[in-house]
Amino acid sequence: MHILSVSALSLLAGSVVAKTCHNFTVPVSISSRNGIFNNIATPETNLDATAFVQNQTRQGQNLTATALSGYGTVTGKYNISAKFCVPSGSNATLKNPTVQVLTHGIGFDKVYIDTAVDEYGYCTLSYDRLGIGNSSHGEPKNEIQSFLEVQALASITFMLRNGSLPTVNHAFSKVVHVGHSFGAAQTYALTAMYPDISDGIVLTGFSTNGSFVGYFGAGADFQQANLNQPLRFGPASNYRTLKAFFENYALVDLVAPLQIAPEESLAYVNGYLTNSNANSQQYLFFYPPHFDTGILYYGEQTKQPVTIGELLTLGSLPMTSTFKGPVLVFTGSNDLPYCGGDCFNTGTSAPSIPSTARTSFPGASVFEAYIQPITGHGLNFHYNATAGYRYIQDFLMAQDLQSRR
Ligand SMILES: *[C@@H]1O[C@H](CO)[C@@H](O)[C@H](O)[C@H]1NC(C)=O
Ligand SMILES: *[C@@H]1O[C@H](CO)[C@@H](O)[C@H](O)[C@H]1NC(C)=O
Ligand SMILES: *[C@@H]1O[C@H](CO)[C@@H](O)[C@H](O)[C@H]1NC(C)=O
Ligand SMILES: *[C@@H]1O[C@H](CO)[C@@H](O)[C@H](O)[C@H]1NC(C)=O
Ligand SMILES: *[C@@H]1O[C@H](CO)[C@@H](O)[C@H](O)[C@H]1NC(C)=O
Ligand SMILES: *[C@@H]1O[C@H](CO)[C@@H](O)[C@H](O)[C@H]1NC(C)=O
Ligand SMILES: *[C@@H]1O[C@H](CO)[C@@H](O)[C@H](O)[C@H]1NC(C)=O
Ligand SMILES: *[C@@H]1O[C@H](CO)[C@@H](O)[C@H](O)[C@H]1NC(C)=O
Ligand SMILES: *[C@@H]1O[C@H](CO)[C@@H](O)[C@H](O)[C@H]1NC(C)=O
Repeated sequence: MHILSVSALSLLAGSVVAKTCHNFTVPVSISSRNGIFNNIATPETNLDATAFVQNQTRQGQNLTATALSGYGTVTGKYNISAKFCVPSGSNATLKNPTVQVLTHGIGFDKVYIDTAVDEYGYCTLSYDRLGIGNSSHGEPKNEIQSFLEVQALASITFMLRNGSLPTVNHAFSKVVHVGHSFGAAQTYALTAMYPDISDGIVLTGFSTNGSFVGYFGAGADFQQANLNQPLRFGPASNYRTLKAFFENYALVDLVAPLQIAPEESLAYVNGYLTNSNANSQQYLFFYPPHFDTGILYYGEQTKQPVTIGELLTLGSLPMTSTFKGPVLVFTGSNDLPYCGGDCFNTGTSAPSIPSTARTSFPGASVFEAYIQPITGHGLNFHYNATAGYRYIQDFLMAQDLQSRR
């Protein structure tokens, strides 16, 4: 199926107001040099999950270094669950479309930015990071690590450029990468490994200051994902057992409003951890009172886990990138994991903590660090999110990276 064929139809009148999206699966064959962390065991219980965080946050210690027993190459075929959106009317009108590749952070899955497609005419490709959501899962300690995930992102990008991405089947000459949090760290690492792979990058909820990662680990109050949301994250048998229980005791009417969703269980194994509840979710991602509490509960219900392999390797990505294109770092003023809750408290003459990322991009054509006011780490969840999206799109427009009509 070709969804971006350019025909000779007349231009649509007026502005673009909607989009068409497709869900599909992308098979990738990738390999990476991973850390082998055989000096520690994979946490099997909630007590182990807390012990893992206690080890990781102990002052003066580096668990990544003490757990590391060596390095090895991981090679595999994996499925990446993707969603591609085109603005309506683009069949006829997009001459040289730009695609934005969106990489989500820890705690969530593929989302997309409506503003990018609706108002600015971009195509977007969002995907579940390898190991998470509807993408292939894997062994959570030595397999699903940042290094392998960056290779999956690279593979998807090469397919977008050479026209071989299933369903899309269009060879894009302009690809912009937008990542949030851990997804921003992977986007940054992607350009360090493949400096010519991107035409522009936007790193949201990000800085290069690692001083506050411990707040994230401690504040999450991590539990085994399959124990925390046993119906959604546990084995499918949990759902079937509970359903039978409610039916046996004629309790289906009692729980009818909860509408226990007969969705396929994500069946995460031990070693996939998740934040404990809405309170820890608030601590990590929200800046009160600048959000609707309904969004907090929605975020908690739809959350996704993190692997211990990701937690052990998120600080091990490259320190500098020779990327030559434009770079925007876009972070909420009260971001927890990357600013310790206050991006302006630098203790130096630097205007903000994210602004110090400039030194990691010595060759960037443009570097800007923008602080979105009264916003926490979860940029999408705050009242003023839409104005923030517009700021990002306007930055890309100013770099001449927009789609052509
Ligand atoms: C894609 O998947 C999402 C999540 O299941 C669903 O809400 C959406 O309707 C799907 N979109 C299409 C075009 O199938
Ligand atoms: C925590 O660290 C101790 C000592 O380094 C180690 O024996 C133990 O296995 C670690 N536990 C976890 C869950 O990482
Ligand atoms: C911890 O150790 C790892 C592996 O040796 C290393 O890559 C990382 O930079 C260290 N982190 C810190 C904060 O020193
Ligand atoms: C990918 O998905 C396809 C179709 O759902 C399935 O047949 C295949 O086994 C999957 N591959 C992997 C590596 O999970
Ligand atoms: C674009 O073309 C596809 C395939 O012909 C069609 O299904 C889709 O509705 C078209 N989209 C628009 C917005 O015209
Ligand atoms: C994940 O896959 C399941 C089963 O194929 C499907 O029902 C669900 O809509 C998918 N969800 C997303 C977010 O892609
Ligand atoms: C396109 O890129 C993918 C990923 O790098 C590669 O596997 C594939 O062989 C390439 N296809 C063509 C036609 O060059
Ligand atoms: C990180 O930010 C804190 C607070 O502004 C500052 O004290 C520290 O020096 C910064 N660290 C680095 C590596 O820039
Ligand atoms: C909302 O965000 C925009 C873009 O960053 C900013 O200009 C504006 O001041 C913000 N509004 C408030 C009330 O913070």
